[in-house]
Amino acid sequence: MRFGHFDDSAREYVITTPRTPFPWINYLGSEGFFGLISHMGSGYSFYRDARLRRLTRYRYNSVPNEQGGRFFYIQENGDYWTPSYAPVKAELDAFECRHGLGYTRITGQRKGLEAELLFMVPRGFNAEVHQVTLRNKSNTTRTFKLFSFVEFCLWNAHDDATNLQRNLSTGEVEVEGSTIYHKTEYRERRNHFAFYHVNAPVAGFDTDRESFVGLYNHLGEPDVVKNGASKNSVAHGWAPVASHCLEVTLAPGAERKFVFTLGYIENPVAEKWQKPGVINKRRAQAMIEAFSKPEQVDAALQGLRSHWTELLSRYTVQSSDEKLNRMVNIWNPYQCVVTFHMSRSASYFETGIGRGMGFRDSNQDLLGFVHLLPDLARQRIIDIASTQFADGSAYHQYQPLTKRGNNDIGSGFNDDPMWLILGVAAYIKETGDYGILDESVPFDNDEKNTASLMEHLTRSFEHVLNNLGPHGLPLIGRADWNDCLNLNCFSETPDESYQTTGNRTGRTAESVFIAGMFCHIGPEYAALCDKKGQADKAQRARREIAKMEKVVLEHGWDGDWFLRAYDFFGNKVGSKECEDGKIFIEPQGYCVMAGIGKDSGQALKALDAVKERLDTPYGIVLVNPAYTRYHVELGEISSYPPGYKENAGIFCHNNPWIMIAETVVRRPERAFEYYKKITPAYIEDISEVHKMEPYVYSQMIAGKDAVKPGEAKNSWLTGTAAWNFVAVSQHLLGVRPDYDGLIVDPCLPAEVPQFTISRWWRGTTYVIQVKNSGKGGQPKLVVDGKPVTGNRVPYSAKGGTVHVECTV
Ligand code: BGC
Repeated sequence: MRFGHFDDSAREYVITTPRTPFPWINYLGSEGFFGLISHMGSGYSFYRDARLRRLTRYRYNSVPNEQGGRFFYIQENGDYWTPSYAPVKAELDAFECRHGLGYTRITGQRKGLEAELLFMVPRGFNAEVHQVTLRNKSNTTRTFKLFSFVEFCLWNAHDDATNLQRNLSTGEVEVEGSTIYHKTEYRERRNHFAFYHVNAPVAGFDTDRESFVGLYNHLGEPDVVKNGASKNSVAHGWAPVASHCLEVTLAPGAERKFVFTLGYIENPVAEKWQKPGVINKRRAQAMIEAFSKPEQVDAALQGLRSHWTELLSRYTVQSSDEKLNRMVNIWNPYQCVVTFHMSRSASYFETGIGRGMGFRDSNQDLLGFVHLLPDLARQRIIDIASTQFADGSAYHQYQPLTKRGNNDIGSGFNDDPMWLILGVAAYIKETGDYGILDESVPFDNDEKNTASLMEHLTRSFEHVLNNLGPHGLPLIGRADWNDCLNLNCFSETPDESYQTTGNRTGRTAESVFIAGMFCHIGPEYAALCDKKGQADKAQRARREIAKMEKVVLEHGWDGDWFLRAYDFFGNKVGSKECEDGKIFIEPQGYCVMAGIGKDSGQALKALDAVKERLDTPYGIVLVNPAYTRYHVELGEISSYPPGYKENAGIFCHNNPWIMIAETVVRRPERAFEYYKKITPAYIEDISEVHKMEPYVYSQMIAGKDAVKPGEAKNSWLTGTAAWNFVAVSQHLLGVRPDYDGLIVDPCLPAEVPQFTISRWWRGTTYVIQVKNSGKGGQPKLVVDGKPVTGNRVPYSAKGGTVHVECTV
């Protein structure tokens, strides 16, 4: 069942009923100011950091869901309603929400009045613009009132939700004309304030929540809206809000637009005050003037659209499969960019007060946006590498505002160092910027202890070799990619963190997955050593990788698939011998991606075992059988009920590893089948089962052991976005940058018989026309009319367009 449809030419998803199975959200903002917005207008806004600079309040895990947002109420002769359906939930004659790239448009109609709400963050501004267009579609003149409403958060979202004994006394506002200023804590250490403005004279306003809503009412029936009159309340403490009242009369067929601006301003300390107690509003005025007319809003929307047109033109495909086209050309890269900005901080599942930037997460996210935002990727790499320790290990997370490693979580996740090599290699392949390797980068942000980025990569590589266990496999530490495989934790105390508690300090628990990573990512390190003229290091690296491959085949092979790990006691994890948890997805993907067992048969066997034991109609589960009881020696993985999250959920992040692995063994049908199973556009028709947005990936879909298989959670902020983009663009469609050329190596089944890819790479556009037999054979390439051997289009410095014909 569907709840809307794609509009590809507008690059929008159109939701046609407010009753979606979960709030379906979008993101506003692409620089410093961001907002989350659901199809009913709920959500919140923040500046840079969702925890420390939260502008508006939203209550997570609440009933009903839309507890906070930007709401517009219409009141006409006692009848009141909200065009976004919520929060009033008066029946609408028509409803539509269009989520576009960086903007959302919600239109509601009732009794001949239509209200269209456009929400966006214009490029170059730290503000959300809300444009309300009112249309009289009836034959009589209509006179009614429009009320706006946002509730301010007192900046620190965690404190705001918990420290009420202080907060309820600190709230302060100023009102001047049609602008409401929120200035809580501005009198002391904050140099920032927020404002909510409308570009028309108001009939009244409210800034105090209790006055607006009424003590025992709710947002669906606010006092002021019910009575049709603002109270001109001024908040002192309690809960500051901003509400404007506008009186509107519309003749039949007439239309009127109002522009509201929700802005964030920082003042230099010396310029904080206009006079004692009155904030300096100069910068706010300038922002207000920038959006005082609807034409300015149109221009800003146009600017936003052009920005995305430019970005998305860097990789496009035209094929007969419209779902493939819309994912590759629009929604998958869009999600990658959102994930780059948000990391894992703010979504409808991440509350914006928890996690900072993950070391491994950020390196993997980079794979999905490096071709779109290479300069930001460069900066991100330096930020991440600066949190590495001198021994090659790394803080698992860092805080976006300070860019410092997070001491609460610390280090000891032994996969982290290798991801840095992968991120840097992807950046260099994209840009050819080898200069980044010479950048001087601190360890643990200590400017007195620095080394070149290349040296950081060496420390990453050596960290694995310095931490090998009894079988010669890498030690897992606190966990590897699978945060929930905690083999040294042994936790029997509630509330203890599985990730940060190491109750035993063993040097026995080993990870076959990290060994696979070492063999897959290690060659990139060797290649970079060669490029830097460090041939000895490169040779040593290749020797160690070859050695590791042997170790994996000897100690990491279980007969029909790759083992997952050895636990603290040296027992096998992910083996036929195990009572449950016999086979895991991660090592099958990563070892085959590394080519381990490709020529000796193990690779095919491992992938066949995945098909037989892990594949389901909704995607590939992480492990099988699910753990049915708590295993103290395995940690968090066995704490989840069967079928959820790491305990045999379909963890969409690692499904693409299997897709890529299937292309390594040249089985296009299987690769594409797996792709279609989890890719949102292909499962739009089962939205009632899946529940999450059909335009973005979710982190997890409940697996076959769950009570509701196929039901997804954690949409938007997940490494799934980047990895699926890598899988589909670089391995199925098969176009990927290498150090000295663009590899063209498609691996798609016959159902996609021909397609054209346009890839902008280092200043040149490569237009690649593919004729595909679907048999997974080797490609034959003709470049600008001349045949070339192999699957690599040489790098062209000429700019313009290079034409490539590819026959598979
Ligand atoms: C984390 C990742 C981790 C994955 C699997 C996600 O929630 O952000 O770092 O690899 O879970 O455990």
